[in-house]
Amino acid sequence: MSKGQETNEANAGPVKASEMGMEDSIEHHVPMWSKVGFIGAGNMAQAVATSLIRTGLCIPAQIIASAPSARYKFHWPQPMDFCHDNVRVVNEAEYIFLAMKPQYLDQAIQGLVNDKVVLNGSKAIVSMLVGIDLQTLKKKLSPLIPDSNNAPEIIRIMPNVAMKYGKGVTGLSHDNIKPDNEHLMMTQKILEQGGIVEVIPEKLMNAFGAIAGSGAAYLFLVMDAMADGAVKQGIPRDMALRIGTQLLKGAGQLAHKDLIRLDHAAQAHPAVLKDSICSPGGSSIAGIHALEKAGVRCAFIDAIEAAKKRSDEIGALAKE
Ligand SMILES: NC(=O)c1ccc[n+]([C@@H]2O[C@H](COP(=O)([O-])OP(=O)(O)OC[C@H]3O[C@@H](n4cnc5c(N)ncnc54)[C@H](OP(=O)(O)O)[C@@H]3O)[C@@H](O)[C@H]2O)c1
Repeated sequence: MSKGQETNEANAGPVKASEMGMEDSIEHHVPMWSKVGFIGAGNMAQAVATSLIRTGLCIPAQIIASAPSARYKFHWPQPMDFCHDNVRVVNEAEYIFLAMKPQYLDQAIQGLVNDKVVLNGSKAIVSMLVGIDLQTLKKKLSPLIPDSNNAPEIIRIMPNVAMKYGKGVTGLSHDNIKPDNEHLMMTQKILEQGGIVEVIPEKLMNAFGAIAGSGAAYLFLVMDAMADGAVKQGIPRDMALRIGTQLLKGAGQLAHKDLIRLDHAAQAHPAVLKDSICSPGGSSIAGIHALEKAGVRCAFIDAIEAAKKRSDEIGALAKE
């Protein structure tokens, strides 16, 4: 992002619902008496909330978010409720997303305990905290749940930032909540406004996060590196970035449309698309050779392993 853009954003003022593609006439589906709340108001909370507003699943007035500082206040659609009070979020929202960094979870829960907040079956708690498993989460939340027979549904998710534009992918795990449970179904629907949702066994959650949560960062790095390559060959940087952006979009669309169309067939493999670009003795296969020589496959496998390992470590720290 250029300096100019940063300044414009800082001065931009409240985001209008219309700027987020929200149609005035769209029917809202999260019941009007219900609210979706976010404890933590940063990038991921905004991505989930933006997808809800964009599709009209709820209106801005049904969204409440809290954070210690006001640094994100004007990034949120108006007239949503932005506050500095986690207690209000818990008391007012039916669906409560935990969207702070994992290291602030204990502090946030302690604040709720100090205020004698009670959680019961009228709420669903949806955690997006990297590394924190359901068992640890349930243990940490237990001081807020006096009646285990009337406990909130606790759901763990791993979203990604592309949810903001409806192109996200979210992993979702839970502990044997019945498939027809209203809170589970609505949580899934909320997340589907931002893209696709994969319900996965919890043991795969950290690996899922390593590709779906962190993966966009790897692709941006690829884009940046390719832009460097293009600049080295004399292409201006801004043009190289435009090419890279369109390239990722186009390659994503091709993979999405063409591979899904071949679903379950032996050809449903990205190598089929790669092979279709590489003509015998051509320039693309020369480039592929250079990438393979540099160990690009191993680098990606290692990156996913490293991210998964780091999530495991964060989770282990949270258990201490
Ligand atoms: N970013 C991703 O791509 C991604 C992907 C998957 C999962 N996640 C998970 O999503 C969560 C949020 O990540 P993020 O990237 O959105 O982080 P972020 O942009 O740094 O936002 C974190 C928010 O939490 C707030 N916060 C800190 N302490 C709090 C407290 N005690 N009570 C209430 N709010 C508090 C921060 O407040 P201030 O604004 O005052 O600092 C900030 O608004 C993390 O747990 C992360 O593991 C992120």
